[in-house]
Amino acid sequence: MTTMFVPRNIIVTGGCGFIGSNFVHYVVDHHPDVHVTVLDALTYAGNINNIKGLPEDRVEFVHGNVCDAALLDQIVPGHDAIVHYAAESHNDNSIADPEPFVRTNVVGTYRLLEAARKYDIRYHHISTDEVYGDLALDDPARFTEDSPYRPSSPYSSTKAASDLLVRAWYRTFGLRVTLSNCSNNYGPYQHVEKFIPRQITNILEGIRPKLYGDGRNVRDWIHTEDHSSAVWTILTKGRMGQTYLIGADGERDNITVLQDILRVMGKPEDAFDHVKDRPGHDRRYAIDSTKLRTELGWRPEHTDFEEGLRQTIAWYENHREWWEPAKAATEARYKRQGQ
Ligand code: NAD
Ligand code: TYD
Repeated sequence: MTTMFVPRNIIVTGGCGFIGSNFVHYVVDHHPDVHVTVLDALTYAGNINNIKGLPEDRVEFVHGNVCDAALLDQIVPGHDAIVHYAAESHNDNSIADPEPFVRTNVVGTYRLLEAARKYDIRYHHISTDEVYGDLALDDPARFTEDSPYRPSSPYSSTKAASDLLVRAWYRTFGLRVTLSNCSNNYGPYQHVEKFIPRQITNILEGIRPKLYGDGRNVRDWIHTEDHSSAVWTILTKGRMGQTYLIGADGERDNITVLQDILRVMGKPEDAFDHVKDRPGHDRRYAIDSTKLRTELGWRPEHTDFEEGLRQTIAWYENHREWWEPAKAATEARYKRQGQ
């Protein structure tokens, strides 16, 4: 039997980023008794506009860094849980410069764990399926909670390190923790550096989409709103010390996703360029989310990928002012990398 945890006043780190801000919207929309404090450093990936317009009595914004222990001492007391999304999140950036990944993902997680321990509050850790490395294209296997950790990139290795810290804080200090490792998210508010928004906004700008290598790499796509409902389920019903994999059976190779985008946007399916592959590029990710579904009764709702993609494309078409300021610098950086 699992006992329900009833959160009232939670800290969401990285709540101005893509997935964190979608979670804040999800909580505001679905859980009227919960107050959210967003802690975000507003790096290049954070945008205060992602939480603009949410009721001020429900959502408070604190501008700060998760590595700042003194700030955590000021804000953590009085809260009953930390949901930790803040991270450096982009593989390509981690290859160009790993240092901020080590700092934010490893040291930042350490600081939050120590704060959660000091003030004896619940901690939920957001992580990725990339900690498990990759699978072969012809392998019928999918990742489970028992898969070995085999991260490939600086990004995924720092996420793996953070997961291990969380597990140690549970085992050694008895901190009340849960962890979730989710597959690739898509949806509104995703930075234009990531695969799907980069290609949508390229097309909107008259730039040809860019596919790494042969484009046969497989990602297991989940709509970010389904990620949010899964995290809420685990936060409130998950067993302490447990890891839950989050996925929605959305395996697709990159070239198919790109052709879907081109078709929906009325372009020929071959109107893209092949560019230099990513070093160490993981071949395939695939999630078996049986544990989350059977133990906690979670189900994804956005199971029609093409429909989710249409909505996401429409969002980028209708929110040019949101992504245009970041677009030129992002493409200039890719160009320097030959991508
Ligand atoms: P994102 O890059 O869009 O957002 C990251 C947010 O964290 C930004 O708002 C940024 O300002 C903030 N941040 C960064 N460093 C900080 C620091 N030191 N202190 C405080 N705030 C800081 O990332 P995302 O794609 O929304 O990912 C969120 C989380 O979900 C990450 O932990 C990531 O590893 C995990 N995840 C992402 C995916 C995916 O598909 N994007 C899949 C599974 C798990
Ligand atoms: P990305 O969105 O960076 O997520 P992740 O590296 O966490 O999976 O990339 C998704 C896939 O798309 C990955 O296989 C790399 C590929 N990709 C491209 O082919 N072209 C691009 O311009 C980008 C950004 C990614």
